[in-house]
Amino acid sequence: MAHDPQAAADAISVHAPDFQPRLALVLGTGLGALAEAIEHPFIIDYGDLPGFPRSAVEGHAGRLVLGKLAGVEVACMQGRAHLYEGHAAADLALPIRALHLAGCETLVLTNAAGSLNPQFLPGSLMMLSDHINMTGVNPLMGANDTRFGERFFDMSRAYDPELRHRLATSATALGIVLNEGVYMALLGPNFETPAEIRAFRTMGADAVGMSTVPECLVARHCGMRVAAISSLTNLAAGMTDEELSHEQSLAVGAEAAKDLQRLLPEFLSKLSPGVGE
Ligand code: HPA
Repeated sequence: MAHDPQAAADAISVHAPDFQPRLALVLGTGLGALAEAIEHPFIIDYGDLPGFPRSAVEGHAGRLVLGKLAGVEVACMQGRAHLYEGHAAADLALPIRALHLAGCETLVLTNAAGSLNPQFLPGSLMMLSDHINMTGVNPLMGANDTRFGERFFDMSRAYDPELRHRLATSATALGIVLNEGVYMALLGPNFETPAEIRAFRTMGADAVGMSTVPECLVARHCGMRVAAISSLTNLAAGMTDEELSHEQSLAVGAEAAKDLQRLLPEFLSKLSPGVGE
């Protein structure tokens, strides 16, 4: 039988009874080290959170790190599961819903992505202004769970304008390049062909990746505010002579993580004390 997000939310409060997270943070490929900045971390293995899908991909630890980051109570998913690993789309809904039930009103998603925009260079960050779901599936397929939201819901402001503004001003204050563009999510696991990349550019994509959109859909369905940032690890297929690899995503992602490591605390400190106020 499918797990209920409430059971995972209850497990979080059993493991960390005096802690209520307000903001959920999902760390993508090569970005796991960001959790190290969390003060007095309390760590729960996904194995202790019923229904939290575990990722087998290198660079995804599989644990929830609770604690304060720049004065904000965060629940940080160090590692995420992906559709290409064979997880059902609906399985990706559970962690986001559990974190929402645990008290998180805001979700910050991070990922590694390939750049389709020649001006958005590898090693830089891109804040998502919008997305295109090309995965062919949706975590909200099947019966609608009315505890979380309505069957049909608006996605015209998927990435919260106010959070984007705060991210942009934080980046400017720190002298960090923060591009802004449209992320296209694909099923993967292969990197794209050059012909696909040419097609996706004409469709308006600035970056491609294999995550984030399912989580954003689940979060918007239950009314959470969402911000998302890609670490651009490469120019997409066919834009250079280079072959693409996961090792490259990890290595360049680690470089972009340094900017993100400075950007996130600055951004969060602006949210404190009242996230979403
Ligand atoms: N394509 C898809 N996903 C990715 C890429 C890419 O070029 N780089 C990092 N993740």
